[in-house]
Amino acid sequence: MADELSKINSSHRKPHEQSGSADQRTAPETKPLSKVTLDMRADIAVLTINNPPVNAGSIDVRTGLLSGLTAAKENGAKAVVILGAGRCFVAGSDLREFGQPLAFPELPDVIRAIEDTPFPVLAALHGVALGGGLELALGCDYRIAAPDTKLGLPEVSLGFVPGAGGTQRLPRLVGISKAIAMICGATRISAREACDIGLIDAVTDGDLLEAALAFLNEAPRPKRPSKEQSAPQDGDGMIEAAEARALKRGKGRPNVAEAIRLINKAATTDADTALADERATFQTLRLSDDAFALRYLFFSERRAGTVEGLNLKTAGNIRRIGVIGGGTMGQGIVRAFLAAGLSVTVVERDGAALDIALEKIGESLKSSAQRGRLTHAACASRLAALDGAEDVAELASCDLVIEAVFEDMAVKKDVLGKVEQVVAPETIIATNTSYLDIDEMVSDLDHPQRVLGLHFFSPADIMPLLEIVRSASTSDSTLASGLKLARKLTKQPVVSRVAEGFIGNRIYNAYRRRAELLVLDGASPDAVDQAAQAFGFAMGPFLVSDMSGLDIAWAMRKRQAPTRDPNARYVTIADSLCEAGRLGRKTGKGWYNYIDGKPEAAPEVTEVIAQARAKAGITPVSYDPQTIQHQLMAAIVNEAALLLEEGVAQRPSDVDVTLTNGYGFPRWRGGPLYWAAKQDPTSLQADLDTLANGVGHGHRAGPVHKILALLTASNEA
Ligand code: NAI
Repeated sequence: MADELSKINSSHRKPHEQSGSADQRTAPETKPLSKVTLDMRADIAVLTINNPPVNAGSIDVRTGLLSGLTAAKENGAKAVVILGAGRCFVAGSDLREFGQPLAFPELPDVIRAIEDTPFPVLAALHGVALGGGLELALGCDYRIAAPDTKLGLPEVSLGFVPGAGGTQRLPRLVGISKAIAMICGATRISAREACDIGLIDAVTDGDLLEAALAFLNEAPRPKRPSKEQSAPQDGDGMIEAAEARALKRGKGRPNVAEAIRLINKAATTDADTALADERATFQTLRLSDDAFALRYLFFSERRAGTVEGLNLKTAGNIRRIGVIGGGTMGQGIVRAFLAAGLSVTVVERDGAALDIALEKIGESLKSSAQRGRLTHAACASRLAALDGAEDVAELASCDLVIEAVFEDMAVKKDVLGKVEQVVAPETIIATNTSYLDIDEMVSDLDHPQRVLGLHFFSPADIMPLLEIVRSASTSDSTLASGLKLARKLTKQPVVSRVAEGFIGNRIYNAYRRRAELLVLDGASPDAVDQAAQAFGFAMGPFLVSDMSGLDIAWAMRKRQAPTRDPNARYVTIADSLCEAGRLGRKTGKGWYNYIDGKPEAAPEVTEVIAQARAKAGITPVSYDPQTIQHQLMAAIVNEAALLLEEGVAQRPSDVDVTLTNGYGFPRWRGGPLYWAAKQDPTSLQADLDTLANGVGHGHRAGPVHKILALLTASNEA
């Protein structure tokens, strides 16, 4: 601390001494306080947090803030402004500290010091104020924000609860029900919304620091700690409704219930007692299994967007997009690009198909605007950025052209060949294929190095995952452009090599095959779905098949039929269902019958299953839910190990990012490999042996223990 203070001698000068020359006035001297600088502007002390890239609240930042407050007092400041240098206020606390003992000063110590100062402290926000950043701001007497600011408390999505007053100060400013929605939903709100609900005092245009100084100077600003305020009253039933929504969304995770309990205390318990309870709860939950798993996933997601040795600066600029094929995926992809502010031309086979595609995209955007999910202005500007064409020649000026035509090699080769004829040499060409071999797809092209796979998930504008597939010929700059584009689309990228189904669908197929074999051997589809959902999957495998349509996998099985090993176990049930017209929800029946949109067990399916068992000479056995869960997991983990060994995925954590972002795998379990690394190796091996028996002839055992050792050694798990 003494060291910190010795650096700020010059700020002991009286305010009038600072105004010698015009230059000195416009550029007052600043002195470093570790990650926080102090700058006297007349009698107001300005503390600027400077911890690039996002001003994460580390021990150095907290120490700097404490020293800065002390120095401000010694300088005779009548008020303090806290702001962030660079692109934001504070994007959150440094998560790396959260798995270890926390060192003094902790954030509550800093906030207590702010509350104990005799003068008002104002937080001036821009960019983002998240987590500990928002808690710091809540600990100040006043808050103003630039219009672009996003505010939120994401701690619940990381497995713990806000621990520096978020659950106490936020409800005292905005009310209990709004605080429950914001904290338990981990939602980010805009500066305007924050102002409307009383979280901040003003939204300011222009220079943020000048606005902060003006705010403090234009009227008396007495000390006003948030913790001394009383939570505004909620209307009848509002708190109960917010709690019910939060608990449903929170899927029984313990930290959600704890957050609700703490927030309610803001109306019933004195602030210091409630703050102590919050801190103790935070200290326990930050070291919970959920919190470790979610922190692992947080860092894994950031790493997934990187490729060793790849210079992202070689990425091209992408502004104009061509989308070929305006079906289910094409429409979603168009909406995703429009949402990112890009101009899109969609190409369909003929005028009639084009009209339908454009109409559906337009309807979907307008319905979002009507439901309040999109402003009318944003809807209008997206529609203005969209046009259509019947000929790929119209895509000549595009920076990127992506095809989403039928899943058929000949059709796709033909389309890509035509695109190459019309676009500029540097235009990137992408395919949205789910399974096809991209190396073969580009084999007739003159410039295959500018082609890559961009595998979106349905609906493409909603699902966060984007698999970026590099073929054998994809150049580094093309790959870099794909990764940069993912960022622009706010998607979670994962880089894959070419393989049947890439990372996600390949693993998912092994999982689905295990599920179908379990049914053939004795389980009911409903028992498998229930077990998967009890494990935490968003939806069981048979409900997923019904939702996405059984015909997609049927087409794939037909394609694979000629090369299938005749001695391998093959489950015919799904084929029989397809032949009977049971293609899933779209035909009102699949693995289940759908009555008013709700799935019900189908006697016809039970009959098909019984016939398949009889034909294969199987006497059904019964499986308990845990065996089903462990068999599904063994199938996933085994396939993941195989594809990692083959180099399809770059690193084990990428598999976890893929499954949690694209396949409804429970985030709080960290991902399938993270989960497996936490299992007892002997019982995991027993599950893998049962898997090998269940799959039977042709089963390939992956190097599971080797891959899990890699994950553990990389300090990721
Ligand atoms: P879809 O059948 O709904 O749409 C394909 C569209 O392409 C149709 O509108 C068709 O008229 C158009 N089309 C066909 N040939 C064309 C050509 N030569 N020029 C212009 N337009 C042409 O199919 P969907 O589901 O949208 O799939 C498209 C691609 O996306 C496939 O490769 C599929 O494997 C892949 N995919 C599908 C996912 C899904 O969940 N449906 C998920 C991820 C990828």
